[in-house]
Amino acid sequence: MIVLGIETSCDETSAAVVDDSGVRSNIIYSQLVHKKYGGVVPELASRDHLRKIAQTVRQALEEAGVALGEIDAVAATSLPGLTGALLVGNSFGQGLAYSMGKRFVPVNHIEAHVHSAMLGDRLLTPPFVALAVSGGHTSLFYVGADLRLSLLGQTLDDAAGEAFDKVAKMLGLGYPGGPEIEKKAAEAQPPWPGFPVAELGRDSLDFSFSGLKTAVLNSLLARGSDYLERLEESDLRRFCRGFQEAVLEALCRQSLKALEVTGCSALAVVGGVSINRALRARLSDLAGRRGFRICFPPPALCTDNAAMVAWNARSMLLDGTAGEMGLAVRARSGWPRYTP
Ligand code: KG4
Ligand code: ZN
Repeated sequence: MIVLGIETSCDETSAAVVDDSGVRSNIIYSQLVHKKYGGVVPELASRDHLRKIAQTVRQALEEAGVALGEIDAVAATSLPGLTGALLVGNSFGQGLAYSMGKRFVPVNHIEAHVHSAMLGDRLLTPPFVALAVSGGHTSLFYVGADLRLSLLGQTLDDAAGEAFDKVAKMLGLGYPGGPEIEKKAAEAQPPWPGFPVAELGRDSLDFSFSGLKTAVLNSLLARGSDYLERLEESDLRRFCRGFQEAVLEALCRQSLKALEVTGCSALAVVGGVSINRALRARLSDLAGRRGFRICFPPPALCTDNAAMVAWNARSMLLDGTAGEMGLAVRARSGWPRYTP
């Protein structure tokens, strides 16, 4: 089965072709227009998707060596994301599918991130726990043998990636903040400041990052409102390290709890933040010591990409859960809570 996937939920215009053996092409165009604003501007995102969508899809087909007529289905991210941005990929995908008389499969963005783990590591089979950690989401899922997701916990306020982006902005670093903070944190010399990790109760599998963000801001402001001008490079690195350590502590702690609660022996970490090398090292170390399997997709499948969308659609088509949706897009904004 050959599936063309389209992703336009935020600031990446991506198109990909997958077949039964895996990824044949995965073209990702990251919008640069937002850099000067320090965050994504929704209207600019929609316009840029519109400018790039046709050539991105064409390039994905060319690189895969696949003619449009050979495609069995077209899939696009339908939710969640920026409405105007989603509309571009969905309308384009639906139009293309309709004009060729092919199936159109709407795909949930977070579910697609979870599927990136199985695309990146074909030996990973459910049940497993998935930590989806990106700029828009921080959630823990139980992925059942039938591939259905149930929610174990999620952030009550900011997503981890969003916290990286906002703290980077406070520190005068560029957007996206995650890679910038990771780089500075790796160069930090001890001691670095300790920041609080939200404690939400012994049984909670939720996250909270807004208090951490405020703690970083307060300790910067304690140096005066002009702290940025006076912050030395060595101090900047220490702030990055202290902040990153607190985020990693929260992610690792809750992931371990989730493995315990579900009895799973495999953890998949997906989404943009899962590129972070310190997070990978810490979880790999824990996996070695505690004896669970850890799985990280390759970086090109971690940030927003269409290969994961196409792969998710392919597995829904194969197991019959994609249904006969025609041109109607099914909206899904939540998952059933995990029950043991
Ligand atoms: O999955 P993604 O591309 O888009 C969303 O669905 O949100 O994730 C983007 C997020 C951004 O917040 C970015 O700062 C973060 O992933 N990120 C990182 C790293 N690379 C990207 N966070 C921490 N360390 C990184 N190396
Ligand atoms: Zn994403």
